[in-house]
Amino acid sequence: MTDPISHKLLPDNSSVDDDGMLVIAGVRMDTLVAKYGTPLFVYDEAHIRSRCQQAVQAFGEGVSYASKAFLCTAMARLAYEQGMHIDVATMGEAYVALEAGVPASHLVFHGNNKSKTELQYAIENQIGRIVIDSFDEIDRLESLLEGSGNQIQALIRVTPGIQASTHEYVTTGQDDSKFGFTVSNGIAENAVSRAASSPFIDLLGIHAHIGSQVFSLDSFRKAAEVLANLSNHFDLPELSVGGGLGVAYLEDEQSLTIEEWGQAIKSVCDEAGVTARVTSEPGRAIVASSAITLYSVGTIKELDGIRTYVAVDGGMHDNPRPALYGSGYETFMPSRVLDSRTSQITLVGKHCESGDVLVSQGYVPEGLTVGDMVATPVTGAYGHSMGSNYNKVLRPAAVFINEGVDRLVIRRETLSDLMNTDMG
Ligand SMILES: Cc1ncc(COP(=O)(O)O)c(C=O)c1O
Repeated sequence: MTDPISHKLLPDNSSVDDDGMLVIAGVRMDTLVAKYGTPLFVYDEAHIRSRCQQAVQAFGEGVSYASKAFLCTAMARLAYEQGMHIDVATMGEAYVALEAGVPASHLVFHGNNKSKTELQYAIENQIGRIVIDSFDEIDRLESLLEGSGNQIQALIRVTPGIQASTHEYVTTGQDDSKFGFTVSNGIAENAVSRAASSPFIDLLGIHAHIGSQVFSLDSFRKAAEVLANLSNHFDLPELSVGGGLGVAYLEDEQSLTIEEWGQAIKSVCDEAGVTARVTSEPGRAIVASSAITLYSVGTIKELDGIRTYVAVDGGMHDNPRPALYGSGYETFMPSRVLDSRTSQITLVGKHCESGDVLVSQGYVPEGLTVGDMVATPVTGAYGHSMGSNYNKVLRPAAVFINEGVDRLVIRRETLSDLMNTDMG
C-alpha cells in the first residue's frame, strides 16, 4: 500500500487545502485539534443527514436509526429531523433519545432480556413499538399491563435461520442465536399467535436482524423471503428487516448503497405479495463513514525489520472493535493527505494490554514523528458508543461540523467524571 487515503473512506464533505491538510465541511483538522485536543471524533453532519435521507427514501416512513451505532442527543435529534425513527436497545438509549426531544411514538425498543424496569419505562413513556424477544417478555409485559387498561404496540423478533457471512459475534439471524423466536421449528408462529391473542398487546408485525457488517445481498434476500412468508401468513401491517448493511473500512472493500439494499429487500417483498409496510434499522450505514478519529502520536517504537509501533493517546477505550472482532482500519496523516503512504506501522493505544491494537497493519507517509496527528477513518459507528473507561481513561470528545462551523456534541470527560458513581 502506497497510495494516499482514498476519498471513499473519508466523510463526504472532505477536501484538502493548499497545505495538504484535511478539511472536513470547511474546517481544518489542525484547527480542531488545537481547539478540542485528541483523541477526537470528527463527524461530518451533512454526510449523516444524507445517509438518513437515503434511508427514508429507500424504505419510507418508519425506517429507524439504530442508535447503538452512535448516540448522543444531537445525533438522535438529527436522525429524527431527517424523518427517521430511533431504534433503542436499552432504557439508557431510550432515555437519551427522549431527552433529545424525539417523540416516544418514534422509538422502537429492542433487547433480548428487557428487565421489568425497562418494560415499565417503555410502557409509562408510551414508546412506539416494543420488539418482543421471548415468551418470558410476553409474561412480563402481561403482568405489568394487567388491570391498567393499556395496550402496547409490538413487533415479534424472529430468527429466520440465515447465517450471514460476517463475524460470528455479530451474526444474529441463525437458528443458534440468543435473539428472538426461531422460525424453522415453528416457535415463531406460536409466539406471533400468542402475542396476537393477548389483550395487552397490539401486534403490528414481525422483525428480524440477521447480523451486522453484512455485504451479501443474498443473505438479506433470503431473510426477507422467510419474513415475507411469515408476515403474509398472519397478515400483519408491519415488517422490519433490521439493520446490518456493511460498510467499507479498508481500501479494497466495496459496500452497497442504502438504495441498493432497499431495492433488494423491496423486490423480494413485492414478489412475495407482501402488503405490510416494509422497513429497516440501519445503524453503521448511517454514521460509520461520516467520521474519523484524530489522535496524537506519543511514542514510536522501531523493531528493526519486524515492526514499527506507533502509540497514540487513544486505544481500545475509543474503539474496541479491533480487539473485539479483529476489525481492520486504515491509517493516514491528516496534515499530509495527498502524500504516498509508504511506511507500514502498527497503531496501538495506551492501555495496559498487548491486545490494545487499533490498526495492526496501517500505512502512513515516511517521516511520521512524535507529536504528529494520525487518524483512522470510518470510525463513526460502534467506536464512541462501545467505548469504555478502562484504565480510568477519559472518554474522548465528539464534534459535528457543518458548513464551516464546528460544535461539540459530546465533551471530553474530566477526572471528576470518574467520581460520578464512586461512593467513597
Ligand atoms: C436489532 C438490531 N437492529 C439494527 C442493528 C443495527 O445494525 P447495523 O449497525 O449493522 O446496521 C442492530 C445491531 O446490532 C440490531 O441488533
